[in-house]
Amino acid sequence: MVNPMDLSGRRVLVTGASSGIGKACAILVAELGASVVLVGRNKERLDETFAQLEGDGHLSVPFDLTVLDEIKSVFVEACSNGLKLDGLVHAAGILPLLPIQAITQKQIVQAMSINYFSFLLLAKFFSKKPFSNSGSIVAVSSVASVKGWESGTLYCGTKGALDSSIRAMALDLTTKKIRVNSVLPSYIQTPMLDDTALIIGDDALRSRILKQPLGLGYPEDVANAVAFLLSDAARFITGTQLVVDGGYLAQ
Ligand SMILES: NC(=O)c1ccc[n+]([C@@H]2O[C@H](COP(=O)([O-])OP(=O)(O)OC[C@H]3O[C@@H](n4cnc5c(N)ncnc54)[C@H](OP(=O)(O)O)[C@@H]3O)[C@@H](O)[C@H]2O)c1
Repeated sequence: MVNPMDLSGRRVLVTGASSGIGKACAILVAELGASVVLVGRNKERLDETFAQLEGDGHLSVPFDLTVLDEIKSVFVEACSNGLKLDGLVHAAGILPLLPIQAITQKQIVQAMSINYFSFLLLAKFFSKKPFSNSGSIVAVSSVASVKGWESGTLYCGTKGALDSSIRAMALDLTTKKIRVNSVLPSYIQTPMLDDTALIIGDDALRSRILKQPLGLGYPEDVANAVAFLLSDAARFITGTQLVVDGGYLAQ
């Protein structure tokens, strides 16, 4: 039977592969036949993801994506065996929750660096000849890109920037046969959500999750959408956002 989401023979670089959504993406794309390059800072947690990958040819590249001027080195290492990449998933991210009066310049630079600036550089190097011939780029954005919430000024801005750039970037990259899209999850059960509960409290988080008609989402729900966008089943889709929110934005 034909699997329209088959990724056999593809090589996919996944940032944020040490936890949550990025980890689920790495595991799924390996299940679908791809070899995976895992990127994140925490080597032990990358090793845990690595141990769960089906197939072979995978690589772990511990790297801090806020070190923007060394991002090219990730691609050099990922392709050092002569292979090129076919997919890029940017799932690494942080969720700063701060009222505008409390935001510092350092926090602005840090959040933009990991959530947005690193993505621009990852996409830039992905689209260079030594590292890919064609392919699909998927960023994990958020419903925060299109919906505001208290203390979300900085986070919403990073995700809005991501999606605005994706629309334009997709146009630049059609001639290179590279598609660029994002997914917009709502609340998903990951360590990031546990951290959110610590900041806003369990009751506040519960009441926000109650606004998701299908309830809480899981990393695999987002990974399925990411894998679809990576695959040839999405070959006519570029420059857009796929909402994965249990109906949250439909209201
Ligand atoms: N969970 C949700 O409800 C939700 C909803 C909408 C969107 N999202 C988005 O989904 C993405 C993944 O979030 P998650 O929920 O899976 O969070 P998570 O479990 O906290 O994972 C975050 C990932 O980002 C990586 N990361 C953070 N800073 C990094 C840095 N400086 N360099 C390299 N990697 C870095 C972490 O790896 P290391 O710690 O190893 O560096 C980790 O793998 C984020 O972009 C988030 O904004 C999440």
